[in-house]
Amino acid sequence: MSTVSPLNRLNDFTAQQWLRFTKTWFIHNPPPRKKAELLHPAKYPEKMIEEFVRFFSKEGGIVFDPFLGTGSTLVACHNSNRNGIGIELQEKYAKIARERIQLLESQLKLDEEGGKLKAKQLVLRGNSAEVGKFWQEYNLPLIDAVITSPPYGPMLNKKGLVAKEREESGLDTKYSDDETDLGNASGYDDFLQKLMDIFIQIKPLIKDGGHLIIILQNYMDKGEYKMLAWDFARDMSKEFQLRGEKVWCQDNKTLYPYGYRYSFVPNVHHHYCLIFKKRKEQE
Ligand SMILES: C[S@@+](CC[C@H](N)C(=O)[O-])C[C@H]1O[C@@H](n2cnc3c(N)ncnc32)[C@H](O)[C@@H]1O
Repeated sequence: MSTVSPLNRLNDFTAQQWLRFTKTWFIHNPPPRKKAELLHPAKYPEKMIEEFVRFFSKEGGIVFDPFLGTGSTLVACHNSNRNGIGIELQEKYAKIARERIQLLESQLKLDEEGGKLKAKQLVLRGNSAEVGKFWQEYNLPLIDAVITSPPYGPMLNKKGLVAKEREESGLDTKYSDDETDLGNASGYDDFLQKLMDIFIQIKPLIKDGGHLIIILQNYMDKGEYKMLAWDFARDMSKEFQLRGEKVWCQDNKTLYPYGYRYSFVPNVHHHYCLIFKKRKEQE
């Protein structure tokens, strides 16, 4: 029988579970979203994120998502008994996050009165560029793991086929018109810089040896392939140690005939889960 080694400093995984997680790719097809969560243009699946939460923290640990959206990271934290903190710029998405957590917590009361889930989830509405202010104001603890998917560049402002379909269904095609929304950065380089600035601010709030898992994608923009995941990995590795990546593949998405008959235009159906580590002082 597999047991958790008392020498395991990172998580509560057995050797077998640990080994399985180190494979650098996986397929995860998100289940259909609930009606309220559909409004958001880019939610990630909480079951998938729970795997990362469980690998990069121990039970009772502190996980932070600076781009919380509909709160999937906090749902994963609730389900794995980690304490989650999330910041989301838009009240409409922060509200969905709060409601998801409230619902889970009320079910817990009914199902497991006195049960062992004690971890807390905190949804903060605001700009992650001011993350230090939140930590001071609420006297928040140091972070074990940052797990997040930022806006994928200024890409949601593109008017592609997917955006057209969402628009026709009355769903959001971009997060907001707010100028502090990273998705509204004036261009690709500006976006990358602003994103980096946020992680530089988060750095002192992470424990030495703590991890960051940042999910991003490369994408095609007006005939040019933007290497967002790779450019970001290069910039971030000046501040943090890049430990590698896990490639998340989706194989149930619609294929669009973008460049048919004239050129190769990819249907990008994979994301990079980039893994960084905050070096210890002496390293
Ligand atoms: C890719 S989505 C995150 C989705 C989330 N993982 C989920 O499952 O719902 C990125 C989110 O970042 C938010 N955002 C953009 N700029 C922000 C900022 N400066 N501070 C905080 N949140 C921001 C957007 O409103 C959006 O909800």
